[in-house]
Amino acid sequence: MSYNLLKGKRGIIFGALNEQSIAWKVAVRAVEEGATITLSNTPVAVRMGEVSALAEQLNCEVIPADATSVEDLEEVFRRSMAILGGPVDFVLHSIGMSPNVRKKRTYDDLDYDLLAKTIDISAISFHKMLQVAKKMNAVAEYGSIIALTYVAAQRTLFGYNDMADAKAMLESIARSFGYIYGREHNVRVNTISQSPTMTTAGSGIKGMDKLIDFSDRMSPLGNADADECADYCITMFSDLTRKVTMQTLFHDGGFSSMGMSLRAMDQYEKSFDQYRDDKGNIIYG
Ligand SMILES: NC(=O)c1ccc[n+]([C@@H]2O[C@H](COP(=O)([O-])OP(=O)(O)OC[C@H]3O[C@@H](n4cnc5c(N)ncnc54)[C@H](O)[C@@H]3O)[C@@H](O)[C@H]2O)c1
Repeated sequence: MSYNLLKGKRGIIFGALNEQSIAWKVAVRAVEEGATITLSNTPVAVRMGEVSALAEQLNCEVIPADATSVEDLEEVFRRSMAILGGPVDFVLHSIGMSPNVRKKRTYDDLDYDLLAKTIDISAISFHKMLQVAKKMNAVAEYGSIIALTYVAAQRTLFGYNDMADAKAMLESIARSFGYIYGREHNVRVNTISQSPTMTTAGSGIKGMDKLIDFSDRMSPLGNADADECADYCITMFSDLTRKVTMQTLFHDGGFSSMGMSLRAMDQYEKSFDQYRDDKGNIIYG
């Protein structure tokens, strides 16, 4: 259902790779809500073809860019302003990748060149995006910029590896730049901390299906899916949230505030069943 929340607004969506991508869902919802947009992803991702199919579906253009390259980002903002007819009102940074995770390096055996790449792709690219946008005056007054993050920035979760450090930095950049961008141009900068979601990036995390199940049982509202994340992004791009800035906004069914839930505890208890004697006593702890 459309509420016309983004009627007349212009935006750039970075990171739609395929139909599972959170950015894909956000792009579809943004257009449904009346926005005109451009899409951006790496030249390799664009060549793979699925982003172009989305662009065709939404009648918008794709601008290839490696988000670690300042020149590429300048080109994205320059072309987007030309295509859309002025500065944009919203930007989604939906970009993350850890070469250490890809190469199965554990957190106590990181390759430091790869760590630098993780941080550059997953966190510093957000600073580059903000700095380029501000210098080019590419985001309109009262614009809204969102990056996607994960609760592993605050709490240690098995398998998230060096992405936890990247997300901590990403959230810090949102606060530090949000102060300057808000003060000078009323532009708000936030991160949305999303439930684990089965996407290409998500499936790279060790034990992802178990993590999804665990966090679903721990969250009073259950995990938030990619469509629900898109809805939340739309409200953050809309004029209904004009005084929200510099925040890590948890969109996780309550997971981040929980200690232990009955559902998770029940499941945990069941794992002991094979170790019970006839009387129900646990025989091995
Ligand atoms: N899936 C989850 O469980 C989950 C949970 C919380 C937060 N997030 C975050 O959401 C965001 C989107 O991820 P997703 O889950 O939709 O997966 P995805 O794989 O669909 O999206 C990741 C995107 O990053 C792009 N990318 C990688 N390197 C890039 C570069 N150098 N320049 C430009 N783009 C680059 C990829 O091409 C891809 O489109 C990421 O920041 C991710 O960390 C995901």
